[in-house]
Amino acid sequence: MNRGRLSTKHLLGIKDISAEDIRLIFETAEQFKEVINRPIKKVPSLRDVTIANLFFENSTRTKLSFELAEKRLSADIINFSSSSSSVKKGETLLDTVNNILSMKVDMIVMRHPAPGAHAFLANHIDAQIVNAGDGTHEHPTQALLDAFSMREKVGQLKGKKICIFGDVLHSRVALSNIFCLLKLGAKVRVCGPPTLIPKNIESLGIEKSYNVQESLQWCDIANILRIQLERQEINYIPSLREYSLYYGINKQMLDQLDKEIVIMHPGPINRGVEISSDVADSEHSIILQQVENGVAIRMAVLFLLANQRGDKDNLH
Ligand code: CP
Repeated sequence: MNRGRLSTKHLLGIKDISAEDIRLIFETAEQFKEVINRPIKKVPSLRDVTIANLFFENSTRTKLSFELAEKRLSADIINFSSSSSSVKKGETLLDTVNNILSMKVDMIVMRHPAPGAHAFLANHIDAQIVNAGDGTHEHPTQALLDAFSMREKVGQLKGKKICIFGDVLHSRVALSNIFCLLKLGAKVRVCGPPTLIPKNIESLGIEKSYNVQESLQWCDIANILRIQLERQEINYIPSLREYSLYYGINKQMLDQLDKEIVIMHPGPINRGVEISSDVADSEHSIILQQVENGVAIRMAVLFLLANQRGDKDNLH
């Protein structure tokens, strides 16, 4: 039973929430993780809530994880994918959302390619909004499930060293992870080719490095990102083969370290590009635990946001 309240009506980004909010989400997710490991994995907490899942970009993990979280909470749900919708006929985002809301929807979970699309909607509609990824900006539930999984593996994150490797420039996961980890007191570094690391990223209070082997030695946890070719209008790297050769993380590199580190990846993985199969599938990898924790984290976020609407203190 968790009687805490979030400080926010929506989850637009990690930047907008406090360390206390993050801790409350983690405490609630721990309780839901226990629930989803029971033979009957469902609770009635959101049985009077209707949620629309609006995906204007592709997704496997986030979409299915939100859908499962909503079903486990007994919410009514509707799913929308832009490829099969009237967006293709020229309808605006606001018109689309207002039409969906007129069907008495309480909460919107949305992935959209435009950074700030969720903040824009929040200024124009009454329903609560959860950001499931906005372009290269934020992916708050991914950062929450990442930090929750790190905490499960290594304990409190204060003082722990976490390095985010790869295409930081195009990654919403990187920015949300940086905000979240700093709020929890971790030391954060980014590492990748100079063309894929934003110029003034140190101003966020983190380190940057272009040296993969030295960064692997520095960190306790390596969070490895995918090269997002679909967001690159120009060539930031000569070829995937070269990227893999100079920046891909393989078992040989881990064997050279004088310690063991935790390996993470938000998915989808490009095996043999940013991470080799023997690293992704190694005993140090918690990639599938991240996916498992995603359901409990999203249940916690939806439950706590729904709490803002009235009295929903009973998880069970
Ligand atoms: N990690 C993540 O956002 O994966 P999907 O794009 O499959 O949702």
